[in-house]
Amino acid sequence: MPISIKSGREIELMTEAGRILEIVHDELAKALHPGMSTKDIDVLGEEVIRSYGCIPSFLDYNGYPASICVSANEEVVHGIPDKHRILKEGDIVSLDAGVIYKGYHSDAARTHGIGEISREAAKLAEVTRESFFEGIKYAKEGNYLFEISAAIGRYAESFGYGVVRDLCGHGIGTNLHEAPEIPNYEMNRKGVKLKAGMTLAIEPMINAGTWEVDWLDDDWTVVTRDGALSAHYENTVLITDDEPKLLTLSK
Ligand code: MF3
Ligand code: CO
Repeated sequence: MPISIKSGREIELMTEAGRILEIVHDELAKALHPGMSTKDIDVLGEEVIRSYGCIPSFLDYNGYPASICVSANEEVVHGIPDKHRILKEGDIVSLDAGVIYKGYHSDAARTHGIGEISREAAKLAEVTRESFFEGIKYAKEGNYLFEISAAIGRYAESFGYGVVRDLCGHGIGTNLHEAPEIPNYEMNRKGVKLKAGMTLAIEPMINAGTWEVDWLDDDWTVVTRDGALSAHYENTVLITDDEPKLLTLSK
């Protein structure tokens, strides 16, 4: 599949999809507290998404059974919300959400601490977020895609962290996952040349220990092989001929 270049009208719709998703994340962040279940997060997230007339992108996507991916501690991504899984003080939790607004998707993830968290956990979440911003320094027309990948990986690895290799970011638009694939580590080639109007979901997944991951028997939940903590940070990004626009982050 070629990489789609969005028209002005499509960019308007994706901007609105992103704006709404940012609100969803803000509401979820406010609601987080020890004692809540991961299912509570999903219920609230779906409610907020639908209150804006949107559809949760992830619900039923390849059979995924929820609206919000909730991945705690050693879970990397795609954790399935569960009413018996109760969050406690000191946990970190990665929330990944997507909405469809008038046929256009947005996709974003944040890692939060529940109450007080360890210094190690806070550092991992911070560096994961920062690695995204290192990457998007290269997210500009005329640059090459894998310059973004290399910058993310180089930064995270400089802290001794493991960069997940089995999962990547992706193009996004009328489909949740479009070309191109966006690795979070250095490639031995440049990748495609970036053009204004491309929309990319850039999403570093960074482990405190080894980069290696496993899938649980539910066939969704990705966990670190060594049981160390993992963090995830993602925004939907519009490439322009100037600075990139973060469609899911206005602040
Ligand atoms: N941000 C995740 C991704 O791009 C969300 C997909 S979750 C799924 O892979 F359940 F929809 F698959
Ligand atoms: Co994504």
